[in-house]
Amino acid sequence: MKYILPAAVLLVLPLVSAQSPVWGQCGGIGWSGATTCVAGSVCTYSNDYYSQCLPVTTSSTSEAPPPPTSTVLPTSTSTRTGSTPTSTGFVKVSGQKFTLGGSEYIVAGTNAYWLAQQSNADIDKAFDDIVAAGLTTVRTWGFNDVTAVQNYGAYYQLWSNGKATLNTGPNGLDRFDYVVQSAKSHGVRLIVTLTNNWSDYGGMDVYVSQLNSGGTHDTFYTNAKVISAYENYIQVRTANQHFGSDTF
Ligand SMILES: *[C@@H]1O[C@H](CO)[C@@H](O)[C@H](O)[C@H]1NC(C)=O
Repeated sequence: MKYILPAAVLLVLPLVSAQSPVWGQCGGIGWSGATTCVAGSVCTYSNDYYSQCLPVTTSSTSEAPPPPTSTVLPTSTSTRTGSTPTSTGFVKVSGQKFTLGGSEYIVAGTNAYWLAQQSNADIDKAFDDIVAAGLTTVRTWGFNDVTAVQNYGAYYQLWSNGKATLNTGPNGLDRFDYVVQSAKSHGVRLIVTLTNNWSDYGGMDVYVSQLNSGGTHDTFYTNAKVISAYENYIQVRTANQHFGSDTF
């Protein structure tokens, strides 16, 4: 065994002495890798378990400030909420790349369709874990169409006799607003899905069964009443800002 050790040390040393790349981890409880970032990026606290090398905005600073170390990082939830630097702005497309604030935006995503069905504390915990895993982007459900009142989680449209009633109660759009708020404070971008091809959480088939008697799954795309109802839902979601204004 003793002959293997020197080789192992050689393998490990370059890893711990290098600077972390842009978007790489640079700190956090249990992290033993590099705590400095390559030029053009700065080590930024996300949570107690994860700090990340984020690109410095080139327009305002020519010299990056020294990266914060774990000893000076905020530890309470209230102070860290405001400390995530990239919490606003839409992701845009430039050629074949995504950009955010002029820098390339790397999509490392996960599907967490269920977020709005959870308590606020669990939504926050989920985003803590998502950020700690190095992810930047989350797809989540911005719809739940029900045909009977649901007394748990969240739903947004209650359908009855061809009429959809928006749920603005405590288990309605407020639940989704909290998902947006938590995503924003974690610096995570959302891809919001507004209906489902499948019948889970209602989806397209609820529109068809409520508005297009005798229709099929595919008449979701062609029936005027269905199209209008779905467009209305999109319009309500954006006009009432139940997306947040600038988070995804
Ligand atoms: C959508 O649902 C239909 C069945 O209703 C299925 O045939 C089709 O493959 C689905 N499309 C996708 C992209 O999943």
